[in-house]
Amino acid sequence: MPERPYPALGTLLVVNGQHHDDQPNAAKTKAVLSGIQPTGAVHLGNYLGALRWWVDFQDRYNAFYCVVDLHALTVPGDPAELSRATLTMATLLMAAGLGPERCTLFVQSHVHEHAELAWLLECTASMGELSRMTQFKDKSSKESEESARVGLFAYPVLMAADILLYQADLVPVGDDQRQHLELTRDLAQRWNARYGETFTVPEAAIPPAGGGARIMDLQDPVHKMSKSSASDAGLISLFDDPKVIERKIKRAVTDLDPPGPGAVRWGPQAKPGVSNLLELLATLRGGKPDDIAAGYESYGKLKSDAAEAVLELVVPLQERYRELARDPGAVRSVLAVGASRAGEVAARTMDAARSAIGLLPR
Ligand code: TYM
Repeated sequence: MPERPYPALGTLLVVNGQHHDDQPNAAKTKAVLSGIQPTGAVHLGNYLGALRWWVDFQDRYNAFYCVVDLHALTVPGDPAELSRATLTMATLLMAAGLGPERCTLFVQSHVHEHAELAWLLECTASMGELSRMTQFKDKSSKESEESARVGLFAYPVLMAADILLYQADLVPVGDDQRQHLELTRDLAQRWNARYGETFTVPEAAIPPAGGGARIMDLQDPVHKMSKSSASDAGLISLFDDPKVIERKIKRAVTDLDPPGPGAVRWGPQAKPGVSNLLELLATLRGGKPDDIAAGYESYGKLKSDAAEAVLELVVPLQERYRELARDPGAVRSVLAVGASRAGEVAARTMDAARSAIGLLPR
C-alpha cells in the first residue's frame, strides 16, 4: 500500500491533565484501544480529534481499533444502512492509514465479549453515575427520556467494556469522551478493589486545547462539530465533494469585528469561529493557533488557507477510499483477521473477569 505523508501531529497529547511524555514504545508493550461509531458522516472533528492519533499510535503501541456497531443501536437507524455504514467506516479507516499489519482493526459485534463484559460492568456501575453522563442527557433530551433506549443509558458501560477487554493503557479520543473515560477508570478501579486486580486502569489521550480536541461547528462555533449537528453547512464530512468543502469553509461564521490588524486572533471564548479556523490550520499544518493568527489580517485569506489545508488532507484520503472500496472483500478479510486477533485477547480478559466475579466455570 502506498504511504502518504500525514500532517505532523505537532502538539503533544494531554493524558489526564499532564503533558504526555510520548516516548516511542518500540516493543509495543503498551496497549491502545479506541472506537468510532459507524453512524452519520465521519467528519473533520473525528479525524483531527481522534483518527490521526490512531494512525500515529499504531506504530508505537499494540493498537486495537474498532467500528462500534453495537453503540450505533442506541439510537434509531435502518438495519440495512448499519451494515453498509460499518463497512464504509472500516474502509475509510484503512484509507486514513490504519494497516492490518500495524494494528488490529475489527468490528465490535464480531467479538461477542464486548456485550458480555458490558453486562458484568453494568452490575458494577450505579444508576446515579450513569445519570450524570452529559452525552446521555444531551441525546435523550432530543427525543424524550421516556422513549430513550435503555442501551443509550448504558452506552458508557459498553464503552468501558470495549476498553477494559484489551487492558488498554491509553485511549486516544476527542474532548467529548473525557467523562466516559473517567467513568471507565472508576469502574476498573471499583472492580479491581471489589474482585481483585483484573483490569488495567486506562488513561485518556486527548489532544491539548487548540490541538484538535474539540473542532467546532462552522455555523455554530460554540458547539462541537457533530454527526448529529442541526445544519449540514457546519460540518465537513470526509466524504464531502472538495468544492462543497471549500464553500462550507468560506461561509463559516466568523464574527462582526471589522477585518484589519488584530481582527484575526486566537480566543475560543471571544472569537470562537475565527479560533476554530485557526485551530484547523494549526492541527493540519503544524504550529500554534495564536502564532498562526499573527500572519493574517483578513478573514478571507484565513478561510482560503484553511480550506486549502483541509483539501490537502481530504482529496488524497478520498482517492485512497475509492481505491479500497473497489474491493470490499479485501476490507472484510482485514476485519476477519482483526476479529480473530481481538477475540483472543478479549477471551483471556473475559475468563479472568468471569472467574473474579464468581461465575462457575463450564
Ligand atoms: P464518535 O464516533 O462520536 O467519535 C469518534 C471520535 O471522534 C472524536 N470527536 C471529535 N474530536 C474533536 N472534535 C470534534 N468535534 C469531535 N467529534 C467527535 C470523539 O471524541 C471520538 O474519539 N463513544 C465513542 C465511541 C466509542 C469509543 C469506545 C471510543 C465506543 N467505544 C472505546 C474510545 C474507546 C463515540 O461515540 O465516538
